[in-house]
Order: sequence, then C-alpha cells, then structure tokens
Amino acid sequence: MKPLNKTSKNITLNDSQPNSRAMLYGIGFREDDFHKAQIGIASLGWDGNPCNMHLNGLAKAVKDQLALSTEMIGLGFNTVGVSDGISMGTSGMRYSLVSREVIADSIEINAGAQFYDGLITIPGCDKNIPGCMIAMGRLDRPSILMYGGTIASGCYKGQKLNLVSTFEAYGQKLVGSLEEKDFLEIVRNACPGAGSCGGMYTANTMAAAAEVMGISLPYSSSNPALSPEKQRECIDIVPAMQNLLENNITFRDIMTKQAFENAITLTTILGGSTNAVLHLLAVAKSVDIHLELNDFKRINERIPLLGNFKPSGQYLMEDLHHLGGIPAVMKYLLEEKLIHGNCMTVTGKTIAENLAEVEPLDFINQEVIRPVHMPIKKTGHLQILYGNLAEEGCVAKITGKEGSLFTGPAKVFDKENDFLDAISANKIKKGDVVVIRYVGPRGGPGMPEMLKPSGALIGAGLGKSVALITDGRFSGGTHGFVVGHIAPEAIDGGTIAFVQNGDMIQIDISENQISLLVPEEQLRKRKKHWVQPDIDVQSGVLAKFAASVSSASQGCVTDNINLR
Ligand code: FES
Repeated sequence: MKPLNKTSKNITLNDSQPNSRAMLYGIGFREDDFHKAQIGIASLGWDGNPCNMHLNGLAKAVKDQLALSTEMIGLGFNTVGVSDGISMGTSGMRYSLVSREVIADSIEINAGAQFYDGLITIPGCDKNIPGCMIAMGRLDRPSILMYGGTIASGCYKGQKLNLVSTFEAYGQKLVGSLEEKDFLEIVRNACPGAGSCGGMYTANTMAAAAEVMGISLPYSSSNPALSPEKQRECIDIVPAMQNLLENNITFRDIMTKQAFENAITLTTILGGSTNAVLHLLAVAKSVDIHLELNDFKRINERIPLLGNFKPSGQYLMEDLHHLGGIPAVMKYLLEEKLIHGNCMTVTGKTIAENLAEVEPLDFINQEVIRPVHMPIKKTGHLQILYGNLAEEGCVAKITGKEGSLFTGPAKVFDKENDFLDAISANKIKKGDVVVIRYVGPRGGPGMPEMLKPSGALIGAGLGKSVALITDGRFSGGTHGFVVGHIAPEAIDGGTIAFVQNGDMIQIDISENQISLLVPEEQLRKRKKHWVQPDIDVQSGVLAKFAASVSSASQGCVTDNINLR
C-alpha cells in the first residue's frame, strides 16, 4: 500500500529537519506517528455564536476517530469568526466579509506551513464556509468540508421562529403593529441552541452548494447541528479521508467547472442567498476556474425556483432534513437532467453513484420542494442586472412575489442608520426606490449586509411596495424587491454615487436592466463636481481590506494581485 504522508514526510521523515521532529515529539508523537498522514482539522468553533458554539465538539469527535486509525493522525487548529446574526445592523458588520478572507488566509497559513497531508474543515456560519473552501482551493490537498449543521426552529405563540423573525418583529414594533412584550418574547425564543441560521440563508445555501459540488459527505448540509446523523458524520469522514489520500484525490480534482454549475443550479432551485454569487466567484478563483456573473445569468434563465424556504417562503432546512435532505433534492435534479452526475466527490464516487441508493422525494405529502412542472417561479431568483446604474453588474433577488418591473423616485442614504431613522419617521413612501450607498467592498469598507433595512421594510409593510438598491449586499435572510452588489460601487465613482433624491430609477427584471433615468448630460455634470469621499478607516484590517479588495463583480477577493 502507498504511504499516505506524501506532504508531511517533508518534515517528519527528513533528516535535515531534526527541529521539526523535536517539536512533534514535544506534542506527544510516538515513533509510528511520524509515518502517519497528518490531517489538519480546522474547527471554526468559538463560544460567542450559536452557529459555531458546537464546532469544537465536532472537531474533537473527528480527532478521536482519527486517533483510532493506524495511518492518519488528526491535528486541530482554530481561526477567527464573525456572527452576522449578532453584528448585523452595527459597524461590526463591516468585519463580516473581511473575515472570509482572514479565515481563508489563516487556514492556508496553518495547513501550508505545517505540511498537512489532508484537511478537514468544520465551518458553521456564513463567511466561514466559503473561507474554508477558498483555503482548500489554494492548498489543493485531499480535503473534506463538514458543515456544523442547521439550528432548530424557535417557537412563540405557535409561530415558528428563526433569527430573521426578530428583524421583522422590530419593523412591526416600529410601526406600532407589535406590542413590546411580544417583541421581547420573539427575541427570547428565536434561537433555541446550537446551529446555523435555519432558513435558506447564506450558511445553509453555501453548505448545500458544498455538498452538490462534492466536497462534503452526502447529507452533511441538511443534517441538523444537534442530530445523531451529524455525530455519525464525524465517524464516516475518517474512511472517506483515507480513501482520498490513497487515491490522491485533491480538492481541485473535485472542483471543476461542472461542479460550480451544479452549485449555481442547486442555489437557484433552493432559492438560496445572493451571497452565493460573491462566494462562488471567490472560490472559483481559488481553484483557477473561470466563473463570471454571466454564468449565473445563463443558469438562472433555464433553472426554476422550486424551494419554498425562508426568507421568502415558509420552510427551514430542518424541514428538508425530514424529507430526505439535500441528497433527495439532488436525486430529483439528476433525474430531471438539471445537474451533472459524473462529477467526482469526497466519497471517491461520482454524484450519480452516491445518489443511486437515495430514496426519491415524495411530492404528494410535502410543500417544501415543488416539482419542475409546478415551480414557484419558472426561472431563477438570482437575477443579474446591468445598466447605467451597474455597468459591471449587480444581483437582484426576485422570487416572483415582488413583480418584475419597478419604477420609482430615489430616496438616497449614505449611511444605513440614516435610512433606519427615515423609516421610523415614516419618511419612506410606497413606490420609493431606497438607495443605500457607500457601503460597498471598499466604501463600507467590508460590504456590510443590509438585513436591518430590508427587514424593517418588511416589518413596516413596505416589502412589496418599496425597492431597495445598494452597493452593499444582503443577508440570505433578506426578501422583498432588493438589488445589491452594485458595481462599480459609489466610492469608486460608480453611477450610484450620482443619484439624487427624486431621480427616477427603473428596475426591469425581464430585461435584466437597472437604469437611472437621468439625461446623460446631467449625469456628466454631476460627475464633474463629485468629490470622492475619504474611506473612514485608515489603519487595521478594514483598511487592508479596502486597499486590496476586488469589485463585487469579481467576488471581493483580496488576492487578485499581479506580482509580475
Ligand atoms: Fe451564523 Fe447566521 S449568524 S449562519
């Protein structure tokens, strides 16, 4: 049998590295351990957030299983995290997208410097899933992503709750349609324990994308955080890793263009988060796959929306788990020839082979996933728009309930909080197009999510009658007529910087257009008199991010650097 320690032997079995061996004796290595494959276990666990609070426990269970192996040894490490659920609506949110890059960098640093032969990453929240994927892409070792799993739903007065219920309750309280006592109880009961936010928000979207791309074990994305099935994954991942090492199946062997197409297709089918666009563009760069906004446009035009998930639908990921999970959906999509079945996965088998024994979805007794002939929307919800307001493109999330054409006067805000003050003061009227700008990747800096504004609009009963456009981004929890990722962003002199109150804006979904209806000559004059504002941080990680980040249309990566 071939030895599995192809990479780590550079430090463990190398006479010229006595220092490395000495240090490994120091952590308790015995003689036979030097011949084992070293598996880095990147736990994204930290205490301050339900999504991540149990991940160190899962990492320990994986490490304990690896300890039973005679050919592999597990070595754990951690990285940083941001809870969007906690920082949303505050300046802390500026660190969120930044954390994806820092997570990717820190996993690359640890696993790269330590010569790990394989990598198991255990993320459980929005940014840390793509952060792990980017690091695994850069390192290109045998790698498996094990998702921490979704949270259980909360409950109050018979109503199922999740984190986004709190933002919408806040909006209801602002306009006087919810009493303080009920508001407080909704907040108290929304998050009953460990697990990632439960709707088809960014974490569940990216976990499902990871599974359909083949980099997670089957069922990993829909097994709830506290389920026995999640514990079972900690056992099953060990032989899967051994098989990857034995057959030298590395991350890039799995992450092909077809794998990305599968991810975009499943995201569309499920009604997943707009953040998937940013993250998949960034992950594609890490594995040298050419992916662009037009790939999303192309797939979106032919793939229907079938998932009835929150935020715009009714159900949570835990509901899908009870119906057979993501594999049941994948099996249906394969039968309908909507995904590629020949892609390799971390089981060492193709997607089609993995799905052979999976029970088919029952369409009679459930309303979570619709059949193709009865879609929620005939084409996808992630609409890529272009026009004079977004020459490099932007992303709209349109699930069909909002209509497909919106024209209205602009109400412009340079800060998220100014908008929240305006909505509290009843200054936002039906038909308005709210513009929140200077919150892009550089201008934010960090491209904060506008869940508080979109949640407040829904809560105030304006979700269907007001459009919200921004150079920031949206949480997976956002719904309503929303357009984000507008590029170029305001700080870089994109047209969004020149919008004035009362200007007419048109968003035409069927034509993929977003337009500022102001004569060219007038726009030219405004541009001439525009003074680029300063970015309001000059040091620290936000400043580093602002200095290096690419446009939203390229995934906001920070390593798009030409060193030649
Ligand atoms: Fe972690 Fe929502 S805050 S998934």
